[in-house]
Amino acid sequence: MCYFQTGFGYFPGQLHFMDQTTKKVAAAKAALQYVRRGTIIGVGTGSTVNCFIDALAADGGLIQVAVSSSEASTARLKNIGVTVADLNDIGSLDLYIDGADEANADLALIKGGGGALTREKIIAQAARTFVCMVDDSKMVQTLGAFPLPVEVIPMASRLVATAIAELGGDPKLRAGFVTDNGNHILDVHGLAIDAPVNLENELNQIPGIVTVGLFARRPADLLIVGRDTGVDTITR
Ligand code: 5RP
Repeated sequence: MCYFQTGFGYFPGQLHFMDQTTKKVAAAKAALQYVRRGTIIGVGTGSTVNCFIDALAADGGLIQVAVSSSEASTARLKNIGVTVADLNDIGSLDLYIDGADEANADLALIKGGGGALTREKIIAQAARTFVCMVDDSKMVQTLGAFPLPVEVIPMASRLVATAIAELGGDPKLRAGFVTDNGNHILDVHGLAIDAPVNLENELNQIPGIVTVGLFARRPADLLIVGRDTGVDTITR
């Protein structure tokens, strides 16, 4: 039965409007079904991934080892008793689980709102299956309303910003932020990304860019979307 939330509680028989966090939790719990017990998985970064790590903890012992995309996720994983392995010692992974800032119908993504895009892209590339969890506010027709994060070598920030401006973007240095790799982030506003693979390829050619937060060459394989009506999955 659905429930309609009002200031006075829930009334049966109507739609239950869920907040963004509840949708993230629902998507994260749904992602558990793709984790095979005892396997080594890749784990992303962000508030949705934190919900996934909480769900792992509640399940108790589904996995013992993971490859992590950030210092923040590493700390959380260790905190629930999961050993964090070096990707070099593992090679490839069956599964990578992460969130995203935007997703389109082709499962191309913008990622990097949390600044962990480089390690996230590395692990996504190493994984046979990339399962991405979002709430429905992240679904867009055209990527780019969320400013595109680009990780840059600090000495190249200005050079890269100029090159991106020539492509029509409006890059802003993320103030006071240093990535886990010791680099800077430019958040690029004003892009309507009609051809995500082309733009990713083009930006990858600019010297000084470490990683573009566009995951189009290697998109998600499966998207779990938390909605008012529950979760739904989209595959490529
Ligand atoms: C971090 C990321 C995150 O996946 C992205 O920012 C989504 O975060 P959240 O789950 O908190 O909405 O790319 O670098």
